[in-house]
Amino acid sequence: MLIDSHCHLDRIDLKPYQNDFACFMHEAEANQIEHLLCIAIDLESYPAMLDLVAGFQQISVTVGVHPNVQDCKDPSVDELIALGQPDKVIGIGETGLDYFRSEGDLSWQHQRFRNHIRAAKALKKPLIIHTREAKNDTLRILKEEDASEVGGVIHCFTEDWEFAKMALDLNFYISFSGIVTFNSAAEIKEVAKKVPAGRFLIETDSPYLAPVPFRGRPNYPTYVRYVAEQIAELRGTSANKIAELSTENFYALF
Ligand code: NI
Repeated sequence: MLIDSHCHLDRIDLKPYQNDFACFMHEAEANQIEHLLCIAIDLESYPAMLDLVAGFQQISVTVGVHPNVQDCKDPSVDELIALGQPDKVIGIGETGLDYFRSEGDLSWQHQRFRNHIRAAKALKKPLIIHTREAKNDTLRILKEEDASEVGGVIHCFTEDWEFAKMALDLNFYISFSGIVTFNSAAEIKEVAKKVPAGRFLIETDSPYLAPVPFRGRPNYPTYVRYVAEQIAELRGTSANKIAELSTENFYALF
């Protein structure tokens, strides 16, 4: 059985499923997906996201505002704590820093990131971290805010082994997306070989970042098995073993 530890189910194209979310979930189950973690992007679309997944026990959610979303409601620590109370909410994020898609004075991004870490600590729930071209500041803020108290996951890992080691030391897991299947992803493949067996997760980040052989097309949670197969090949083991390990690791973290 597989777990997709990071997907945006409210953004999936349901046309191939007659626009029927239950039909889509039925196929996920038929493809051995036992659990899905649906990740929040902003608060404006959050109520609709909760409505969509409400009837499905095999879906958990997070709450947070993505570092690239501007012109949106920026939650206070107290607001995040209030929204993070329900049992279905098992993590805080996605949050972090992104210097690739945002420019200029990014102090707002830093403050937003700190607020998410403070809320996660108050709730004792793990963090889902997005970091892009901002590795030093990401690590610095995680340290300054004592994020290791709750830990979490560096989602869609795109950094090198040096960064991975520092994240592991801070009590974070490493999550691999379809990017690990790309030919250009030599550094990420290296990390997938070296990461301890008890410290990695797999994800799709669907509908974005489809793995090879679907690269450039819409992504679906069922494609998480291509991520498992790639990691298995890199580590010289079976896809079933990678599925088993990543599933155990998911339940250990959340
Ligand atoms: Ni995401």
